[in-house]
Amino acid sequence: MAATFILGIESSCDETAAAVVCSGARVVSNVVASQFAVHQPYGGVVPELASREHLRAIVPVVRQALAEAGRTYESVDAVAVTQGPGLAGSLLVGISYAKALAFALEKPLIAVNHLEGHIHAVLLEERQRGQDRLRFPALSLVVSGGHTHLYLVQPSADTWSYRNIGHTRDDAAGEAFDKVAKLLGLPYPGGPIIGRLAAHGNGRAVKFPPAQIKHPDRRTPAPGPTKADTLGGNHLPGFDFSYSGIKTAVLRYVEIHALRPSIEARRTALAKLAKATPEDYLAHSDQMTLDLIASFEQAMVDDLVAKTLAAARHYDVQSVLVTGGVAANNHLRQTFDDQASQAGFPVFFPSRPLSTDNAAMIAAAAYPKFVAGDFAGIDFSAEAGMRLG
Ligand code: KG4
Ligand code: ZN
Repeated sequence: MAATFILGIESSCDETAAAVVCSGARVVSNVVASQFAVHQPYGGVVPELASREHLRAIVPVVRQALAEAGRTYESVDAVAVTQGPGLAGSLLVGISYAKALAFALEKPLIAVNHLEGHIHAVLLEERQRGQDRLRFPALSLVVSGGHTHLYLVQPSADTWSYRNIGHTRDDAAGEAFDKVAKLLGLPYPGGPIIGRLAAHGNGRAVKFPPAQIKHPDRRTPAPGPTKADTLGGNHLPGFDFSYSGIKTAVLRYVEIHALRPSIEARRTALAKLAKATPEDYLAHSDQMTLDLIASFEQAMVDDLVAKTLAAARHYDVQSVLVTGGVAANNHLRQTFDDQASQAGFPVFFPSRPLSTDNAAMIAAAAYPKFVAGDFAGIDFSAEAGMRLG
């Protein structure tokens, strides 16, 4: 098949993104306009503000993605857009724009699941490197602000199949990073800041007992390899996550150790800075807080890695993929690298720019659908709670 240029559009949360990807294998351009500054004063994403910002950014972002790719609107082969999951109002901005564009240009329109996009970020970059190291079935951990999900991933004919074998029972891992950061007087999004500060603390200083990151309903998987039930089986044991307990444990630690005054002082000092840097966050964090942050990150990393590798062993997969915003975390990557190789699983991550939300992953996930002629009707709509597998 001739080179296929797909314009991807992503607007599910607080990033307006557009990208051009060639045949699911080469990022030609990748533009991301972040709304962090708009939401930062509120300590989290405000849905109404997010929709308004998408509306403001979508036209210039798409224009820039085409310009950087050296392409005209007419010279793309298809338009792909995130259908869900995400914020309904935000998704609708991308979808309405993509529909109008596809209709006016008489190009096929492709609807993509955001979670499938995160998985394809890894596949895209592996193809881009010209390497073919991925073996299937693979297990993919999608770990972001909205999801902590495990999928068995398998190519089948000219499409892909996914089977969800675990998910968070309450907060997503990224949400826990964001909430703990907010609790400690640090700005949104908390994940990248916690990742930076944790390097300055002792990750073993505060013990978070496993019970605090274990859902009481979590089923213990039956032992033994079960290649037979990989993707095809009916009974699948759960590998679930739960991160609301650890957030409460951090809160309790703050109260027991009377950290509130220092948190308030930090919040006030950082609010006065026009643009705080990692050095500013560090300068306003005492050692006890740094140890708490490092210990929180350690507990999150230990749990994510242990459960993912337990599932990888149980399903006897050939590769492990780790993707989504939290996959940008250095400590998580290092620990996966060490422990997965010890356990005999090759582990793959996207580059950092493709770990967090972007549209290249949407254009890449759209390519097999383009090949299969799996196009969206002009009447399709946003699906805020869309599931995968
Ligand atoms: O995939 P993403 O950009 O958006 C969603 O689909 O949710 O993920 C955003 C999440 C946020 O919760 C953010 O705090 C977290 O990813 N995150 C990180 C890091 N960078 C982003 N968490 C931990 N360490 C990081 N370095
Ligand atoms: Zn995402």
